[in-house]
Amino acid sequence: MATALPLGGFLGPDSGLPSIGVGTWAWGNQFLWGYEPERHDAALEATFQRAVELGLTFFDTADSYGTGRLQGRSEVLLGGFLATLPAARLAGLCVATKLAPFPWRVGRSGYARAFEASRQRLGGKLDRVQLHWSTARYAPWQEGPLLEGLADLVDRQEVASLGLSNLGPGRLELVLQRLAARGIPLASLQVQLSLLAPDALAPGGVAEVCRHAGVELIAYSPLALGLLSDPGRNGRPWPVGPRGWLYRRLLPRIEPLLVEMRAIAKAHGASMAEVALNWCRAHGARPIPGLRTVSQAETAAAALGWRLEASEVGALDRLAIALPVRMPANPFQSN
Ligand SMILES: NC(=O)c1ccc[n+]([C@@H]2O[C@H](COP(=O)([O-])OP(=O)(O)OC[C@H]3O[C@@H](n4cnc5c(N)ncnc54)[C@H](OP(=O)(O)O)[C@@H]3O)[C@@H](O)[C@H]2O)c1
Repeated sequence: MATALPLGGFLGPDSGLPSIGVGTWAWGNQFLWGYEPERHDAALEATFQRAVELGLTFFDTADSYGTGRLQGRSEVLLGGFLATLPAARLAGLCVATKLAPFPWRVGRSGYARAFEASRQRLGGKLDRVQLHWSTARYAPWQEGPLLEGLADLVDRQEVASLGLSNLGPGRLELVLQRLAARGIPLASLQVQLSLLAPDALAPGGVAEVCRHAGVELIAYSPLALGLLSDPGRNGRPWPVGPRGWLYRRLLPRIEPLLVEMRAIAKAHGASMAEVALNWCRAHGARPIPGLRTVSQAETAAAALGWRLEASEVGALDRLAIALPVRMPANPFQSN
């Protein structure tokens, strides 16, 4: 990781900060998030309704979300919730899914069935398709034709916009050239970005490429799976399974960052989660926290009401860079 981050300076004094979206990975995921339909579905619907009510308009899902026999469950739930909205409300939302480049999805029409299946699960409300991850590390030949197929969908106006996920700066430049040759704009790139995963912001990183190309940067796991939302306090139960393991491994080593975040949160009368989200926004990225309770939706929306001071962004940057640990990177993230 390089030693300097652009300290929030590129936004310019008059530009608005990016908004906040809603992540739905947990909706249907038993392995990491302990999802059970009977226990969680009502709360997820209430979370969705509250998020929409509070003006959160961007929803991120994926066709691979949902574990085992529940694969696609996140899209199914989201599609069901979307169907309850009046048409005017629905029209104001952007629903984005990610299509997995599974090894059996090959060629220019390799995503055709997957796209149709996602659209159906979402009840027809699908505004953006995103390549879920780069295949550059293990099957570089697969990615190009799949992307051409996604661009075809935009070309044919079957979907409004195209996004990418888990691409590094080099690969992103190549895709931008390829899309430009066809006159298809790239709407967004989503990568892991948080105070525990700040590499996207390093000089020459994807944030810089996105900024120059006018591509929206979306920050996934902005709360580092909850690590940056004051875990262990406020009586919240400690996660079990792989998340619990991650907490045990990282938490003891990120205390200086958490201390600073708590102080900043206190100064703004806000929560630590809001600080984590607003740090992403200060760096020009739209965070998409995973939300599964009404109060989490309310906290996310509350972050929209204030911004970090430049000095606070700087202090957080310095601490983030100095930390001895990072969130595990996505193994498919390309260079
Ligand atoms: N493109 C990709 O490869 C990729 C990879 C990962 C994620 N994503 C997307 O990014 C979204 C967000 O990432 P993520 O779900 O991995 O993790 P995250 O947003 O970093 O963390 C989500 C967890 O943080 C806690 N939390 C959320 N809001 C909170 C609040 N206001 N106060 C306190 N705690 C709060 C919750 O944990 P508890 O409910 O347990 O308290 C929640 O489940 C995903 O849902 C998905 O849409 C994309």
